[in-house]
Formats: sequence, C-alpha cells, structure tokens
Amino acid sequence: MRLKIALILMLTLVPSSFFTAAEKSGKKQTEVLYNFCMGKVREKNSKIDTRDFNPASIDFGGVEISTQKGEKENDRIKRLPGQPEVEFKQYGGYVTVDRSAGRAYYYYFVEAHHAPQSLPLLLWLNGGPGCSSLGYGAMEEVGPFRVHSDAQTLYLNKFSWNQAANVLFLESPAGVGFSYSNRSADLRSNGDRRSAIDNYNFLVNWLERFPEYKDRAFYIAGESYGGHYIPQLAQTILYNNQNLNNTIINLSGIIIGNPTINDETDAKGMYEYYESHAIISKQTLNRVLRYCDFTDSGNGLSTQCLIGMLESERNTAALDIYNIYAPTCNTSPSSQAVNIDPCIDQYVHTYLNRPEVQQALHANITKIPYDWQACSKVIGEWQDSPSTVIPHLKDLIAAGLRVWIYSGDLDGIVPVTSTKLSIQLLKLNHTTPWLPWYLDDQVGGYTQIYEGNLTFTTVRGAGHQVPSYQPSRALFLIKHFLNGKHLPTSRNLTLFSSIS
Ligand SMILES: *[C@@H]1O[C@H](CO)[C@@H](O)[C@H](O)[C@H]1NC(C)=O
Ligand SMILES: *[C@@H]1O[C@H](CO)[C@@H](O)[C@H](O)[C@H]1NC(C)=O
Ligand SMILES: *[C@@H]1O[C@H](CO)[C@@H](O)[C@H](O)[C@H]1NC(C)=O
Ligand SMILES: *[C@@H]1O[C@H](CO)[C@@H](O)[C@H](O)[C@H]1NC(C)=O
Ligand SMILES: *[C@@H]1O[C@H](CO)[C@@H](O)[C@H](O)[C@H]1NC(C)=O
Ligand SMILES: *[C@@H]1O[C@H](CO)[C@@H](O)[C@H](O)[C@H]1NC(C)=O
Ligand SMILES: *[C@@H]1O[C@H](CO)[C@@H](O)[C@H](O)[C@H]1NC(C)=O
Repeated sequence: MRLKIALILMLTLVPSSFFTAAEKSGKKQTEVLYNFCMGKVREKNSKIDTRDFNPASIDFGGVEISTQKGEKENDRIKRLPGQPEVEFKQYGGYVTVDRSAGRAYYYYFVEAHHAPQSLPLLLWLNGGPGCSSLGYGAMEEVGPFRVHSDAQTLYLNKFSWNQAANVLFLESPAGVGFSYSNRSADLRSNGDRRSAIDNYNFLVNWLERFPEYKDRAFYIAGESYGGHYIPQLAQTILYNNQNLNNTIINLSGIIIGNPTINDETDAKGMYEYYESHAIISKQTLNRVLRYCDFTDSGNGLSTQCLIGMLESERNTAALDIYNIYAPTCNTSPSSQAVNIDPCIDQYVHTYLNRPEVQQALHANITKIPYDWQACSKVIGEWQDSPSTVIPHLKDLIAAGLRVWIYSGDLDGIVPVTSTKLSIQLLKLNHTTPWLPWYLDDQVGGYTQIYEGNLTFTTVRGAGHQVPSYQPSRALFLIKHFLNGKHLPTSRNLTLFSSIS
C-alpha cells in the first residue's frame, strides 16, 4: 500500500525536464543504478536475493575450456570506421561462456601503446546492472578513442589507460550490449552470481585465446555497480585458483570507483551529500535519516521516509546526478567547457549501431533481435544482489591483494560521503593522514592509506565516471595503482616524470 502511494506521488512530483534528449539513446548508467537501488530498498518483498555472495556455494563443475586456435587472429580489428591511425593492436569478438545455453560474451581488447609484452593486463567493468563496458568504459572513459558529434569519426583520447596497461573491456552479463544468449530465459535470470560465474568462464577461455597473458600481472578496475562485480569476480578467481587443476589467474589487485558496496551506507551517504552540497534542506535530510531504514532487515520505508525521498528527488531530478555541476545534454552539442560533451551517449549509441562499425568490431554476428544500448533494455528482473560486499573487500585485503577505492567528488549517485561511511565498516586504522595529492602542481584529490595498504582516494572535480571528467588525473591514478606507488603528497611532481 505504502508503495502505491509513493509511486503516485512520484509521478506528480518529477518534473518533465527529467526526460531530456539523452533519453532517446537509452537509459544512463546512474539512472539504472538509482532505480535498481531504490527498487531494492523500497520493495522489501522484491524477489531479489540479498544474501552474501559465496563462491564456495557455487558449482563450477561446468567450467568449459574450449580450444581457441586461430580465434585470436580472427578477432584482430584492422581498423574501426573513422578511426585515426594508431600503432597498438585491437581485438574484438565473442567468447562462449555457456555452450549448452548458447551464451556468448563480447569483448574489446586494446594492447598497450608501448611495451605490451611487459605491461599488466587490466580488465575494466562498468555497472548498471546492465550497462556496457564498451559504450561507457571504452568509448567514454578509459579507451583509446572517443566519438565525435558526427557519430562517424573517432579521435584519440590522450589519456587512454592503454598508456599504462593492456586493457580488456567486457560486456557483461548476457543482454548487455553485444553479449547475448540464445536461451531467451537467460535475460530474465541474470544476477550477481551468474555474472561472476560467466565472467570467470570468460576469463579462463579468453586466456586460452591469448595465452601470452596467462602469467601477466592481472588487475580488475571499474566503477559503480562494478563495486559488486569486481570483488565477487576477484573472490571467485581466488577460490578457483586453490584448485591447481584450474587455470591460475595471476590476480594482483582491484580498483573500484564510486562503487556500490553496502546498500545502507550508500543510501545514507547520498542524502548527506545532497544536504552538504546545498541540494536538499537539512529538514529533508533529517526526515530521511530519522524515518528511512535502509538496512536489509528493515521492515520497509514509512510514509514519512518516502516523503523525504520524494522531496530529494524533486530537487535532484533536473540535475546531471553523475556530476552535480555539469551541464545536462539538451538537444545540441554543448558549448560549455567540460572535458566530456554531455551528449556523448547519443554519439556512441549511433556509432555502435552502425552496421559497418559492428562488422569491424566482429560484433552482432548472430543478428541480435534488438539494438545496441549503453544500458540494457532487455534484461529483466535481477535474481540476486547482496546487500554488502564488505566481507569480500576484507578477504581480498587479507589475501594480500592491492585494493584501492577512488571517488569522483562531484558524483551524487555513489558520492564520496557514501564511500567514506562504507569504508568505516571495514574497521581498519589508517596509516597515513588524510592528505591532498598533486598533479601538475594542482590538488588532484585527497588520499589516505589504511592497514593492509587499502588506499582510498578522491579525484577532485570528477563525477561518477571519473576518467570522463578528469582524464589526466584518472590516468595518473591508474599508473600509481598499477605500479604500487602512493600518490604524491608533495607538490612538484608531474604526469610523466613521477613514474619511472
Ligand atoms: C547462437 O545461435 C546462433 C544461430 O543459431 C549460432 O550461430 C551461434 O553460434 C549460437 N551461439 C552460441 C554461443 O552458441
Ligand atoms: C604474477 O604477477 C606478479 C605481479 O603482481 C609477478 O611478479 C609474477 O611474476 C606473476 N606470476 C606469475 C606466475 O606469472
Ligand atoms: C586434478 O586432476 C587430477 C587428474 O585429472 C585428478 O585426479 C584430481 O582429483 C584433480 N584435483 C582436484 C582438486 O580437482
Ligand atoms: C544486430 O543486427 C541487426 C540486423 O542486422 C540489428 O537489427 C540489431 O539492432 C543489431 N543488434 C545489436 C545488439 O547491435
Ligand atoms: C587501531 O588503533 C587502536 C588505537 O591505536 C588500537 O587499539 C586498535 O587495536 C587498532 N585496530 C586494529 C584492527 O589494529
Ligand atoms: C604495505 O606497503 C608497504 C610499503 O609498500 C609494504 O612494506 C607492506 O608489506 C605492505 N603491507 C601489506 C599488508 O601488503
Ligand atoms: C620535489 O621537491 C622536493 C623538496 O622540495 C625535492 O627534494 C625533490 O627533489 C623534488 N622532486 C622533483 C621530482 O622535482
């Protein structure tokens, strides 16, 4: 009953400007995340299983390793339409993750600009759930190319992460982007657990196709709901590495940005952020903090709580909640100076749906019956989404992995205030003070190290997709992470001289 009242209220309160031109090119990553999280807390009787993820309770008997002979060369991408000349190699194609279902994942892989034989392998995962690592990660964040507003030509991203690693982008799970399943029921039975198994199966088979990467240091990076996928996949890898009959994956660390890691603190911190950034009133914040129970065991949200949430939604609806100070995409390319065109989602959508682009990428070879979307419209209900991944972060730190968490400090969806509350739950003492770090004599953000070398760092002036908004700071950050070096907290270092 409460829920019905809330929905009616919401429809009348949300202003029409909420539906901007960007809607035409599909749902956005943060919108998907927001709706998903709110669905989880609002509908306590929703069917989503929120119990902890545990790889030991999963049957991996079905891990199938297929022969990948010749596949690598078939996957070589000669050139993408409209692409400038580059020296590094690119690959794209499908890896079957479940033969009986006919489920295959699409990947896009770019070798490093320099020294691909020695630089690490880095897997990038976006969130959603249901959003594409090709559309966001590769084309808007850390990949080598960005799409011009003509949606036909590409330009180089000077701060591409393949300056620091060989970067692998994976569209996961089935129903996202070009990844598909021939068993249509799979689109209605996705969840965290299936994603972890499939991602693991993908990796093991991909390493057969690219065996030269088997012994390479391997890292996983990503953002948003990747805060679930990444620790879960890492835990799955460590679990399967115990059986020496399996392919041993040389997992060395994870880095997660503005990550969803603990439902209760993620939600609370969001409202704290809005209040501290002059978006909602103290009264609204107090109402939410007093009346909303975001815990897993809570018995739903009271009317008072829903009023608080709706007051907040009214005030955030016309903002780009990815980056509270950025212009929104209205109709034409924006002249306002930001590192990323707010309408880029539309250019990427058009570009990736062009048949000649799909052909060059070796994508959509089975004629998938729906178009490519940045965030899936075909994935139905989500089966399981644990309310926390804190236990996995503890395990990964204890296993000696390098664990970094970063936060773009203008994000209003999984804001820095949420992440700070979540990190407190790890109950680790800090080993350094909270200090500014520098790039080019400017404060790049703030950083603190905890026991076990957990590193938490903010990126100043960045929204949810940190590498889109602050590309040079993001590249600087990933170089330090991959090199196991602390960010410089003294002032005279520059991008290209600080790392040997
Ligand atoms: C899915 O079905 C198509 C058409 O039958 C087939 O070509 C393709 O190989 C199948 N995919 C997988 C992963 O089995
Ligand atoms: C795994 O990666 C580490 C770096 O994290 C490297 O030192 C080591 O040689 C690699 N191990 C294997 C077995 O390749
Ligand atoms: C590893 O493989 C061998 C040979 O197939 C088998 O005898 C053994 O039980 C396997 N070990 C585990 C832990 O699965
Ligand atoms: C795949 O190709 C078909 C036609 O060739 C097209 O209608 C469909 O939108 C494409 N799907 C994706 C996911 O790109
Ligand atoms: C953290 O520091 C406090 C005070 O120095 C100490 O009592 C506590 O044992 C430390 N906690 C851990 C987990 O080491
Ligand atoms: C943390 O880093 C320091 C310095 O790099 C190193 O000496 C120490 O062994 C690391 N500790 C852990 C738990 O990895
Ligand atoms: C940075 O400044 C410190 C102290 O002023 C100096 O010792 C150091 O050599 C400088 N480093 C670089 C890379 O210029």
